[in-house]
Amino acid sequence: RIAWLSARKGTLPAEQRIVLERAGIIDPESIEDYIVHDGYQALVKTLTTMTPADVIAELEKSGLRGRGGAGFPTGTKWKFVSKANGKKKYVVCNADESEPGTFKDRLILEGDPHSIIEAMTIAGYTIGASEGYIYIRGEYTLAQERMFRAILKAREMGFLGKNIFDTDFSFDIHIHSGAGAYICGEETALIESIEGKPGIPRARPPFPTTNGLWGMPTLVNNVETLANVPAILRHGAIWYRSFGTPSSPGTKVYTMLGNVNVTGVVEVPMGITLREIVTIYAKGMKKGSSFKLAQTGGSSGSVIPASLQDTPMDFDSFSKAGVALGSGALLICDEDTCVVDLAKTLLNFFRVESCGKCNPCRIGTQRAFDILTSITEGTASLKDLDTLLELSSNMAQMSNCGLGQTAGTPLTDILKYFRAEVEAHIRLKVCPAGVCPMKPYI
Ligand code: NAI
Ligand code: SF4
Repeated sequence: RIAWLSARKGTLPAEQRIVLERAGIIDPESIEDYIVHDGYQALVKTLTTMTPADVIAELEKSGLRGRGGAGFPTGTKWKFVSKANGKKKYVVCNADESEPGTFKDRLILEGDPHSIIEAMTIAGYTIGASEGYIYIRGEYTLAQERMFRAILKAREMGFLGKNIFDTDFSFDIHIHSGAGAYICGEETALIESIEGKPGIPRARPPFPTTNGLWGMPTLVNNVETLANVPAILRHGAIWYRSFGTPSSPGTKVYTMLGNVNVTGVVEVPMGITLREIVTIYAKGMKKGSSFKLAQTGGSSGSVIPASLQDTPMDFDSFSKAGVALGSGALLICDEDTCVVDLAKTLLNFFRVESCGKCNPCRIGTQRAFDILTSITEGTASLKDLDTLLELSSNMAQMSNCGLGQTAGTPLTDILKYFRAEVEAHIRLKVCPAGVCPMKPYI
């Protein structure tokens, strides 16, 4: 971070691109272009000079953490799968990016598909798998087409298939298309879906590292996580640690949305602040509006109030501040945003996408949505706010998977940071932002 800050001194702030280093620069349909831009070098290095234990050691040293939202240490996960017993093992790339407002993985898949093939093949060698699956969100048709063509080309050139580079190692990749269910991004629902079953999450533990696809040890990694791997192995863990913070090294890809002047995707070092993102990359709030909050990570992230704008955006600093970084969506809202309306929109999403397997989530999301609706219509009581907090706590503690466990976060966040605004709807029958109808919808 210090190197990055001094490098940008006196110049226009540069992005720090690691996973997006080739996106927009190479022709994603040309394997030759990928090779010219250092592509498949990490695979050659891994297969010819490194043991699986070396790869895991380098990843552990790099400090890479999962970029799907949870931040689990990647080297540890690879080690778990490599040590697990099973007659077969699998590598799965979770490309079912469905978090509202998140489209960071899409850019990687469409802009640099071979980087994912290269990373999955390295993963296969490291954990002892000969087969991999990329589960791509159904709506991402261009990403699916590009990935399909990239796999064919990689097979043709000998980067996939039998005895890669004349070694004993063979590996191939299948594409599996999602069909529009958000819950299939949950890793065990995704596994069920590949197996041809409805996308309903399993109970964890056991984790996929030991009991994944068809009960076998399975490595499930997010697209952005995998896209970091070839660069780490090419340049080394020490180089990687020169970006980001000591506990969250590297970069993070964010999607910027909302009431800002520039929207889109940026890749910046871990640890930069929300204020820096808004002022530097999003070029400030739109004329006449000021920052009220940001909603990170899509549905499963947090509501970040203005008081946390200077908190470094990395897994640990955010967690210490009681908020979550999530998948990388940054929905930046001005003072014309009503927090009750925002929470209602999120709960509407959760109640529709809940798979219905367990009661706290199935009933809790619907009940919370109903209460939020009554607040926007001016028919709620203050006691309903206690019910919202109780629902949030019950869902967090008793739901089976991440969807239900995080569905109540918007409720607790708006009551923690914007309680007066919520209460105004009830006590004064007024929506301070002027968004809610404050009368029952007929
Ligand atoms: P988690 O923290 O339970 O697990 C993270 C990863 O570590 C998983 O792969 C899990 O299998 C593994 N793991 C954890 N403990 C383990 C252990 N003891 N042994 C072996 N493996 C272990 O998080 P979860 O529920 O998998 O994901 C939640 C995250 O997903 C949230 O942070 C959310 O922001 C994100 N998310 C991202 C979306 C997107 O579109 N990128 C969509 C929806 C949610
Ligand atoms: Fe399904 Fe919700 Fe239970 Fe997850 S928490 S298994 S989405 S009902």
